[in-house]
Amino acid sequence: MNPTRNNIPASSREQLIPLLNALLATATDLKSQVKQAHWNVKGPQFLPLHELFDGIAGRLDTQIDDLAERAVQLGGTALGTIRQAAAASALPEYPVNLKTGLDHAAAIADRLSHYGAALRVAIDTATTLDDADTADLFTGFSREADKDLWFVEAHLQ
Ligand SMILES: [Fe+2]
Repeated sequence: MNPTRNNIPASSREQLIPLLNALLATATDLKSQVKQAHWNVKGPQFLPLHELFDGIAGRLDTQIDDLAERAVQLGGTALGTIRQAAAASALPEYPVNLKTGLDHAAAIADRLSHYGAALRVAIDTATTLDDADTADLFTGFSREADKDLWFVEAHLQ
């Protein structure tokens, strides 16, 4: 780890940094999958889904930056390249054969749900490690993931 004057104990930071990097990988993978849906969705729901998926990708971009920078603030190295993300992501690969809006919405909803669940586990871990700031970061992101899941699932109901 890199030296820092941050007073969160090193024993906690050693666990928080890999947690942040794991979510960085998943968020980076998810962003690329949402863009894949943004580009390839077809059918009567094309325009609202095309625009919704781009909005989600933009929110994930901000989250990706914050996750990476928090890992560095705690004395770590951010592991944020596409190859690192692909190797460490918790998500399954995005199917290449999807066409309709319903298919893309279901696939993205599955992945947003997975991301939100991983963030909630991470909130508990950061709280256990007495890092309220990282827990707060995760809490804000999980709230955004839940809202985006709502937007996407509304197309399925
Ligand atoms: Fe675009």
